[in-house]
Amino acid sequence: MNKMLSLLYAPRFPAGENKKTVDEQLQNILKNATSEIEVAKAFHELNDLKSRYIGKKSELNGFMQQMGKLSATERPVFGKKVNDVKAAIESLLEAANERIKENIYTQSIATSSFDFTMPGRPVLMGNLHPLTIIQNQIEDIFLGMGFQIAEGYDVEDDFHNFDALNHPKDHPARNLADTFYIGKDTLLRTHTSTVQIRTMEKHKPPIKIIAPGRCYRNDKFDLTHSPVFHQTEGLVVDEGISFKDLSDTMDIFLKKLFGSEVKSRFRPHFFPFTEPSAEIDVSCVACGGNGCPTCKNSGWIEILGAGMVDPNVFDILGIDSERYTGYAFGCGIDRLAMLKYKLPDIRLLYENDVRFLRQF
Ligand code: DAH
Repeated sequence: MNKMLSLLYAPRFPAGENKKTVDEQLQNILKNATSEIEVAKAFHELNDLKSRYIGKKSELNGFMQQMGKLSATERPVFGKKVNDVKAAIESLLEAANERIKENIYTQSIATSSFDFTMPGRPVLMGNLHPLTIIQNQIEDIFLGMGFQIAEGYDVEDDFHNFDALNHPKDHPARNLADTFYIGKDTLLRTHTSTVQIRTMEKHKPPIKIIAPGRCYRNDKFDLTHSPVFHQTEGLVVDEGISFKDLSDTMDIFLKKLFGSEVKSRFRPHFFPFTEPSAEIDVSCVACGGNGCPTCKNSGWIEILGAGMVDPNVFDILGIDSERYTGYAFGCGIDRLAMLKYKLPDIRLLYENDVRFLRQF
């Protein structure tokens, strides 16, 4: 029997020989490890202690190596004692590891020139442009009523901007003074009504779309005009669509956009591509209809153009005008934004002054 194991069976060697029982040796190892680990100040010291106390060449591991030589009944008793000491040392090492980590952190705070109490740099958050906010609201309202969103092109041709919309060849809107021509037959669309045509070319009824987008007109840049502006078009075509459908839909739209107290009225008007046509006013959103500078004391504000699709338009596009009827509408998004946000000048929407834009 080897020397170390003999200790197990001879609980105490004769005094004077300075021999210890295994229990005492294990306790001794634990005691030494504890006192050394408790004062360790750096990770590398811990690593050394780890390999010295529980590593391959450690005294503790030496005990383990001897286990095979014990009997089946002695082995678990002995193994447990060694393992308990090993586990105790491991948890001491772990606690020391945390303590050292904590120390390094507090020391670095104490000695750092970094002022942890200083307020951070503000993060510049972007936000939506007011026109985008209004456009999103319009889209949500119409999507909620079963409309789809259609798109067209900013660069268009005469046919889609004028001819197919039943504009006679000498219509004043075709004038160079009003329309930006890029080529003989090519122009920047002056309204989103072009998307009515593009949609009816591609799709058979039933059609139920809105088409928000940019439009261009050769206007000067002033309080109420911008050469670039935004509209949303609407088009519904099916069997049995009536003027009542148009007025109901507009009423719901305007109430959802401006609040349920808002009233609307239709005034007869003329558009080449709708018959009959109307302009739609809302009760002034600034004064509630009593009269103020916003509504030029009339109590009403013009918001939309609309009407029943002219059968000529259907005929041009090969849609059976005996079978189908439809309504269309168009409104200026910039104007809606100006009313909703009480903006005195359309140019605010295009100057990209962040002091203005941050307010939304
Ligand atoms: N396109 C017209 C404009 O720019 C607005 C408009 C009026 C659109 C009546 C329509 C409509 O769809 O039915 O002034």
